[in-house]
This record gives sequence, C-alpha cells and structure tokens, in this order.
Amino acid sequence: MSAAAELPLDQLDVITPDSFQAHGYPHEAWARLRRESPIHFYADTGVPFWAVTRHADITAISKQPELFLNGPRLFVNARAEKMMQEEGKFPRPPTLIEMDNPQHSAYRKIISSRFTPAALKKIHADVDRIARKIVEDVLAEGEAEIDFVDKVAAPLPIAVIGWLLGVPEEDWPKLYDWTNRMIGFDDPEFNPTNFETDGMRAMIELFTYFSEMVEERRSKPQDDLVSLFTHAEIDGEKLPQLDVLSYCQIIVGAGNETTRNATTGGMLALIEHPDEMRKLADPANLRTGIEEILRWTSPVIHFARTLAQDTVFEGHGFKKGDVFALYYPSANRDEDIFEDPYAFRADRKPNRHLAFGVGEHFCAGAHIARLELEMAFKYLLPRLEEVELAGDPDRLRSNLIGGIKRLPIRFKAKPA
Ligand code: HEM
Repeated sequence: MSAAAELPLDQLDVITPDSFQAHGYPHEAWARLRRESPIHFYADTGVPFWAVTRHADITAISKQPELFLNGPRLFVNARAEKMMQEEGKFPRPPTLIEMDNPQHSAYRKIISSRFTPAALKKIHADVDRIARKIVEDVLAEGEAEIDFVDKVAAPLPIAVIGWLLGVPEEDWPKLYDWTNRMIGFDDPEFNPTNFETDGMRAMIELFTYFSEMVEERRSKPQDDLVSLFTHAEIDGEKLPQLDVLSYCQIIVGAGNETTRNATTGGMLALIEHPDEMRKLADPANLRTGIEEILRWTSPVIHFARTLAQDTVFEGHGFKKGDVFALYYPSANRDEDIFEDPYAFRADRKPNRHLAFGVGEHFCAGAHIARLELEMAFKYLLPRLEEVELAGDPDRLRSNLIGGIKRLPIRFKAKPA
C-alpha cells in the first residue's frame, strides 16, 4: 500500500512546493480527499486553508464570485503572503485575476472581444506560421536528443504572447526571463540571488519595460494588446498607467508557463501512451486530443478564494476570511465526472475538464492556448518517426504551476 493510502488525511501533503518538485501531482492523496473529505481543512501550512478537491464544489465556488473573492490572495503560499507584505513598499494595482466585481467585469470586457474564437481567426495564420517554424527548425536536425521545453514548448507561447502584445522579437528572451522568475519565485534555480524577492524584482523590470512601450503607443497606436490597453476606456475614462502595466503583466504571466507546461506535459503523456499518440496524429482527433492533454496535464495546480462573509456551503459553516484552494487537477480526475479518469484517451468525449477554471475568472486566453497546442501537435506528430524519453523530467518547485523545467527526448523525424 502506498504512503498516501495509509496516512491520516491531515498528513497528506498537497501544498508544499518541495513535494510538487519531487513527486509531481499527488493524485492518490487528492483521490482520498475527494472520497473522504472533499473540503478538508489544513491548519499547519503557514496559511491555514480548505482544500477543495471535487469538480462540483470547485464549480459551485467559482460561480459565486461575490462570496468567494479573488482579491485578498491568488494562491495559498506562505512565501507569497510575505511577498505581498513586501510589495507594500512597491504598491501595484491588482491584475485582472486579482480583481473582484464590479471592477473585474469592467476590466475583463477590454480583452473579451479580442480573445473570442471569431476575433482570433485573424491571428490564426500568424500562430500557424510561428508554430510551424519552431517545429520545423527542430525536426530539421533529423535525428537528435533535445530538451523539448527549451526547443519547442517554451519558445511557442513566448513568441505568441510577444507578438500579441507587440513586443519586438529581440526582446522576447526578456519575457521568458521575467516569467520564469515571477512564476518560479519558489524555485532556487530561477531566483538564485535573492530567494525572497527576485520574483518581485522581475515584476518591476517588466513594469519599467512596458512603461516605455505604453508611452510610444500613446501617440502611435498599433494593432497590438499594449495599444488596446493604453487606449481602453471605462466609463469614458482611460485606464490609469499602472493598470495598463498590470494588464501587460497578467498577459505575460498567465500566457506563458501555462501553455508551456500543457505542451510539455502533453508530449510526456504521448510518449507514455504511444497508441494515443498515433490517434492524435490523425487530424480528426486533434481537437479532442488537445482537450485530453489539457485535462491530463492541468498545468495550474490551484487558485485561491477568500470568503467575503460567514456562510454555509455543502452543509458546513465557514467563516469570513476562510481561504479555499481550488485544485483543478483533482477536479480533472473526479470519478463522478470522468469515466475511467486515470486513462489518457485522445478521443475522450465528453470532456468537461476544469484546466481553464470555470465561472467569472474562466481563463481569458483559453482559445489562444488551444490554438497554440493544436498548431504545435499538428506539425509535430505526423513528422515523428520515433520519439522516446532521454532522461527524467525535471520539475519546477512550485505549488501554483505544475511545471516541467526540462524534458529530455530523443527523436527521429520523417522527411518533410
Ligand atoms: C494551457 C494554458 C492555460 C491554462 C491551463 C490556463 C489556466 C487558467 C486558469 C485555471 C485560470 C483561472 C480561472 C478561474 O479562476 O476560474 C486562468 C485565468 C486567466 N488566464 Fe489562463 N491559462 C492558460 C493560458 C492562457 C493564455 C495563453 C493567456 C493569455 C494570452 C491566459 C490569460 C489568462 C487571464 C488574463 C486570466 C484571468 C482571467 C480573469 O480573471 O478574468 N491564459 N487561466
């Protein structure tokens, strides 16, 4: 019997960054929580919180944004709480995902129209071109051993986000560096000099860089997101400069690591399930296969909600200020929703996964992420003659993003 099956529930580790780095997702522990205590209190974790593990509860909580707030904290992490206090020295406005209503819905409208499938048709050809070039450059080697993250999974979202925002190509490496340091603030590899505050320093560098771009776009608007945010109006007023910068920050922060890890985790899942890889190589299965990759990898581990007032939920009384961690990867293995949830099936239907969350804060970039994943695998899979792991995945030390920093693979490509 495994450790997770024997331990008292209070000792199941579903929160420390160390555990996610060493073992990946604690699926056995989450399965026990879903079964035995689906909203379970953890008192001794720096920030006491309720672990919410069932699909139905995560959905119900996410659909009551006036009660379960995003503003007080975005995730459960003692270090992040400390950073927030430090941030008091460098006050910044909340990003979209840290806003509550009425502010949230007013700000969300600014990008909603840009990010619909119809509006994204305009960028289809560009994402296609970017993905194709990245994949073809790698496959041109014919037969090679590479780090899949470095060569494919990381460059694609960086290029797409850089291109959407209007950042010139020579500065795309900066986006890469800031994302690693902001999202990887808990991993000593990304924050070697000052473990506590380097994530925040990365954020300040990003703000400084984008302030110059905003100044330029003010007089010379272009067809990019920085121009959109700079000229957007709410109730006839332009956004304050810092809000424009926060909008840039959330796009950089939310759009990179997530897609990178869905792509990397997807490649890993396909290597481990060769029959499913063959299925996914058939264009007829591309769409369902990408949804299964999203369900399977579920790159966001959790986001938090904080209770606005005393309330009864699922027959239990909770107090104002109580903190909830919504575990999306656990919802995505919920036996009540998914048939055979631990099987990876490229043609799974239906697939009501919560990888993008649900409700008020549902991922604004979901269509973009899907497009990127489709393009990457569409070009990659039909050209792979052979592919295998060339080493173990190297995982990120984080309890927010299920990150893979390096995925060594060996491949042989078919001729173009
Ligand atoms: C596979 C890739 C991605 C995953 C798994 C993902 C996941 C998520 C999740 C779980 C949320 C929170 C939902 C909630 O609280 O209910 C979210 C929010 C968000 N995501 Fe994504 N995301 C991805 C890609 C992207 C991309 C490419 C962009 C931008 C181009 C983006 C921008 C955002 C924004 C702006 C929000 C905040 C929305 C709001 O608060 O209204 N995401 N994402």
